[in-house]
Amino acid sequence: MNRRPPMFLALLSSVLLVVLTVALVLPSTFKPPQPTQFTTLQVRQPAETTPPNLTTEGSGPPPTKAAGNPRTDADRNSENPGPYHNWKHFNADYNEMMQSLKIYVYPDVSKKNSPFSSIFLPLRNTKNLGNYYSEHAFKTALLSSPLLTTQPEEADFFYMPFSINLMRNDRRLHSADSIKNFVARYTERIRSEYGFWNASGGADHLYVCCHSIGRDAMSRHEGLHSNAIQVTCSSSYFQRLYVSHKDVPLAQVWPRPDFDRALNPPDKRNKLVFFAGRKQNSRIREKVIDLWENDDSMDIISGNRSFSYEEGFRRSRYCLSVKGYEVNTARVSDAIHFGCIPVIISDHYDLPFSNVLDWSKFSIIIQEDDVGSLKKILLSVPKETYLAMFQNLISVRTHFSWHTPPRKFDSFYMTAYQLWLRRGLHRLSY
Ligand SMILES: *[C@@H]1O[C@H](CO)[C@@H](O)[C@H](O)[C@H]1NC(C)=O
Ligand SMILES: *[C@@H]1O[C@H](CO)[C@@H](O)[C@H](O)[C@H]1NC(C)=O
Ligand SMILES: *[C@@H]1O[C@H](CO)[C@@H](O)[C@H](O)[C@H]1NC(C)=O
Repeated sequence: MNRRPPMFLALLSSVLLVVLTVALVLPSTFKPPQPTQFTTLQVRQPAETTPPNLTTEGSGPPPTKAAGNPRTDADRNSENPGPYHNWKHFNADYNEMMQSLKIYVYPDVSKKNSPFSSIFLPLRNTKNLGNYYSEHAFKTALLSSPLLTTQPEEADFFYMPFSINLMRNDRRLHSADSIKNFVARYTERIRSEYGFWNASGGADHLYVCCHSIGRDAMSRHEGLHSNAIQVTCSSSYFQRLYVSHKDVPLAQVWPRPDFDRALNPPDKRNKLVFFAGRKQNSRIREKVIDLWENDDSMDIISGNRSFSYEEGFRRSRYCLSVKGYEVNTARVSDAIHFGCIPVIISDHYDLPFSNVLDWSKFSIIIQEDDVGSLKKILLSVPKETYLAMFQNLISVRTHFSWHTPPRKFDSFYMTAYQLWLRRGLHRLSY
C-alpha cells in the first residue's frame, strides 16, 4: 500500500550513484593543481587507483636508468602507489594521444630567407641556453616527432614558432615593447593569410616561452591573449595574463649532459638542505638566508660556494626552490635531475604536469608564510616517507628531460599531453 519509501530510496540511491561516479571520475580527468599542505604528505592514495605495473613492457611508467637505488620486486608490489594521480587513466589517454594528436607548425619555422628568420628557425645548438632551454627544446622535439603534421586541415593545434628568447637577443626587437608589437603583427599576419585562426578565434593556436619577458608578449593582441594557449615557464595563478585552465605550464629544465650518471643514494647525502641564490628582493629568500646561512647541517648560501652547484644538489637530501622574481626556476627540475627532493616555497606556482603527477609524492610544498618552520618540517619527515619520495622522484625524472627526437613520457610528450587535454574546441570549417 505504501510504496513511497522504496521509490524514494531507489531515487536516492541512483542520485548517490551519479554523485559517486562523478566523484570517482572527476579527480582522474581533471585535478586542479593546488598548493599542497605538508600535512597531506603521508596520506595514502585512494584505493581505486592501481599502482603502475612497472614490469609490464609498454604499459608501465618509463624505465628509469640512472637509479641510485634500483627498485626491487618488493617495491613494485608494495602498496606504494607511485607519483601519479591515476597511472592507468593517464597511460591509456597518453597512448590514445600518440595515435591521434597532430600539431601543425606555421611555415616560418623553415623559411630561411625572411628578414626575421632567426626568430623562427630552430636552434642547432641548444646546450648553452640555460634557463631558456625548454622554449627551444620544445621546438626541436616537435619538429622531429610523429605528432608533427604538414596537413593543417588535420591538425588539432597550430604552433606559432617565434622565440621570445631570440627576440630578446635580437637588437632590432630586444625591448619588451617591440616584442609585444612584433608578436601582435605576426598574429595578424597568420590571421589574414590562413583560415585556421579565424576558425577557432585562435583557441587551438599556441606559442611557447620560457623567458619572463614573454609574460606580456601577447598583450597587444586581444585574440592571442584571451584565446590562444600560452605554454610558459612563468605559470603563476597570480600572473595577470596567465589562465590556468587555458594555458600550459612548461617545465623549466636546465640542459644537463649527464642524465645517465648514477644518483647519489639517500644515505650518502649528508646535508639536510641545499640552496644557493641571491636574495633578489624576495623577503622569503631573505628569511631563509638570514635564518640558516650559518647552520652547518644545511648548505644555504648567498655568496661564494666552496663546492660546485651540482655538488650541492648531490650531497643534500632536500633542495630549495624559493620564489625570487618569478615563481618558477630551473632549480626544481635540477633537484629532480640530481635526486634531491624539491622543496617548493613559491605560492601560486602552477606546477608542471600537476594534473598527472601528484607533487606531494616527490616534493614538499611549503606555504611562504610557513618558511620559518622549514627546518622543523623537514626534520619531521619519517625516514620511510623520505625513501618513498626518493623512489618516486626517480620515476618522474623522465618527465623533466627533453630529447630530439622526443622519447616516450619526456618533457615534450608530457607537454603535448597537456595540449591533448585541451583539444576538441569548437571550430568552424575552414
Ligand atoms: C604486471 O606484470 C607482471 C609481470 O610481467 C604480469 O605477470 C602481470 O600480469 C602484470 N599485471 C598487469 C595488470 O598488467
Ligand atoms: C579573419 O577575420 C578577419 C576579421 O574579420 C579578416 O580581416 C581576415 O581576412 C580573416 N582571415 C581570413 C583568412 O579570411
Ligand atoms: C667571490 O668570488 C669572486 C670571484 O671569484 C671574488 O671576486 C669575490 O671577492 C668573492 N667574494 C667573497 C665574499 O669571497
